[in-house]
Amino acid sequence: MIESYDDTEELADFAAAVAGDDRAPVVVIAGCGTAPTVTGLRERGVDAYGFDAEPEILETADPATREFLVEADLRDEALLETLRDAFGIDEIDLFVTECMLSFLTVDEARTALARIREAPGVGRLVHRVRMDPPVSAQLGEIDVTILTPEEWREACDPDGADVWRDGFEPWNLPTLEDADPDGATAD
Ligand SMILES: C[S@@+](CC[C@H](N)C(=O)[O-])C[C@H]1O[C@@H](n2cnc3c(N)ncnc32)[C@H](O)[C@@H]1O
Repeated sequence: MIESYDDTEELADFAAAVAGDDRAPVVVIAGCGTAPTVTGLRERGVDAYGFDAEPEILETADPATREFLVEADLRDEALLETLRDAFGIDEIDLFVTECMLSFLTVDEARTALARIREAPGVGRLVHRVRMDPPVSAQLGEIDVTILTPEEWREACDPDGADVWRDGFEPWNLPTLEDADPDGATAD
């Protein structure tokens, strides 16, 4: 029998491995949209939270998930304080940017990700990037940054500390044994 791939399950398993055995993993989804990943992770025992810059999108999330979402902008210097105040969390095991970096310039993304990566209490950063321009960009209404995962890594993560993936591909997340002692991942 062929088993179907479940990307939320893979993300939940990775979060559990990062967090260790003694507590539920804490995951934050940046640019969560209607938050299906937050809902799916919570169904799998993850303490998942999400934020999005567009409050109208958050209002269309599953009502049971809504309390775990907040309006916030990845570029905000006070983002982590906002998340900690909203959700009462200290540690963040996984910080996931979910198909949203293309809405930022490279400089904005580099600055925001460095701030989050260096903050105390933040574990691993994982990024899913898409290379298809959103409709609003195709219509010329907004500017977007379209780069491959490798190009994003080179621009924003020169030490290779984070995990970078194509949003249309399975996660294929590394095992923690693949990570070097400094936390960079050999993948
Ligand atoms: C292509 S959608 C992806 C939605 C969802 N993560 C998914 O994969 O289905 C990008 C989302 O990023 C949000 N976004 C764009 N810029 C943002 C920013 N600076 N901070 C937070 N969210 C942002 C948008 O409002 C939108 O909901």
